[in-house]
Amino acid sequence: MDLQQIKDTDKKYFMNTFGERTPVAFVSGKGMDITDTKGEVYKDFFAGIAVTALGHSHPNIVKTIKEQAEKLLHTSSLYYIESQACLAKELAARSCCDRAYFANSGAEANEGAIKLAKIYHYKKGTGRTDIITLKKSFHGRTLAAVAATGQEKYQKPYAPLTPGFTHVPINDIEAFKNAVTDKTAAFMAEFIQGESGVHPLDPDYIKAVFEICRKNDILIIDDEIQTGVGRTGKMFAYEHYGVEPDIITMAKALGGGVPIGAVLAKEAVCAFQPGDHGGTFGGNHLATTVALEVLKTIDEENLIQKAGENGKYFAEKLSKIAGVSGVRGKGLMIGVAVGKNAKDIVRKMFEKKYLLGAVGDDTLRILPPLIVTKEEIDKFCETLEECI
Ligand SMILES: Cc1ncc(COP(=O)(O)O)c(C=O)c1O
Repeated sequence: MDLQQIKDTDKKYFMNTFGERTPVAFVSGKGMDITDTKGEVYKDFFAGIAVTALGHSHPNIVKTIKEQAEKLLHTSSLYYIESQACLAKELAARSCCDRAYFANSGAEANEGAIKLAKIYHYKKGTGRTDIITLKKSFHGRTLAAVAATGQEKYQKPYAPLTPGFTHVPINDIEAFKNAVTDKTAAFMAEFIQGESGVHPLDPDYIKAVFEICRKNDILIIDDEIQTGVGRTGKMFAYEHYGVEPDIITMAKALGGGVPIGAVLAKEAVCAFQPGDHGGTFGGNHLATTVALEVLKTIDEENLIQKAGENGKYFAEKLSKIAGVSGVRGKGLMIGVAVGKNAKDIVRKMFEKKYLLGAVGDDTLRILPPLIVTKEEIDKFCETLEECI
C-alpha cells in the first residue's frame, strides 16, 4: 500500500485515539534510521516513545525473535517458563528488588503495582487503601492507571474513576505531608516525569518523601516505565537519588519493541499469592527471551554508560542553541524548553527527516535509541538550530 491507501483504510476502520498523525508510514528500520513507504530515510530521535533502545532491527534481537519463533512463542504461565524465571532473576540482580511479575504494557504493569500495594496492606490488615501520586504524572490509560495519572484531560470522560487516588504538586513536601492520612497505602511517582515534559523530582523532595513513607509503612512505587533500562544513564532513575523503592514498574525499552511490562518488588512486599493476580500473555516465551537479549546487548555495547555520557554531551550542545531557554532531564531523556512553536519546530524537523516529540507548544521531547552517536547528535543539533 502507498501512504494514501494506508491513510484511507485507517480513516475508515481504525478507532483513532491518536489525533492527527504525522503524515508518514514506516516500513523498515536499521539502527537510528527508519524508512517510509516512499523510501525516505529519517533519523529516529524518539525511539517509538522510548521503546527501541537498541535502535531498529538490532541483529541480536532479530536473531533471537527468529530463533524463538521457530521454537515456542507461548504456553501461558500455567507451566514453567525458563526465560521468565531467568528474566526475573536478571531484573532482581540489576535492581533493589527481589522478584518480578510480568505484564504486557506499562499501564498493565502499573495496575499490577497498584494491586500489589493494596493487597500488601490488605493482608497486613492495616486498613490502608489509598495512593498518593503527583500532578502532571502519567501512568497509563487503563482505569486505575488513569486514576493514578495526575492530569484531568485523561480522566474526565471516565468518571467515576477508581477511588482512593490523591494528586499533589511535584516537589512540594508540605503538600505531600498534608495529603498523607492513616489510609495512605503508597506513594507512586515517576522520578523524572516524562510525558508531561521531562520534569525531574528534587533529590531533597524524594529524601523527605521517603522518610515520611518509611515511618508510616507507606510503600513507594517507582514508575520506571520510561526511565528504566538505562535511558537516564543508570539502569533505573532511582539510582540517581540514593534511595530504594519498594516496587518498580517497567515496560517500553525492556522488550526492545516486543511488548512486555514488569512489576519488581522487594521480598517483604511480595504479597501476591497464587490466584491473586494474573494474565494470559504476561512473561511468555517470546517476550521474556527477547528482554533477556535486550539486557545482554545493553551490557555488551555498554549502552547505559554511553547514555549517560552522550546525554550530557547532547544537553550541553542543545543548551547552546539560540532560542533554547533550558534543557531538562538526565541521560537520553531530554526536554528542551523553546518557549513557543514547539509543534512547528517538530514539523520542520520532520521535513528535514528527524523524528522527535513536543509537549504543549513550549517543550521539545527527545528520546533517541541508546545507540545514538556523538556525530548523529551534532547533526541533529545543527538541524534543530536551523529549524528554531
Ligand atoms: C511513566 C509512564 N508510565 C506508564 C506509561 C504507560 O505505558 P503503556 O503506554 O505501555 O501502557 C507510560 C507511557 O508513556 C509512561 O511514560
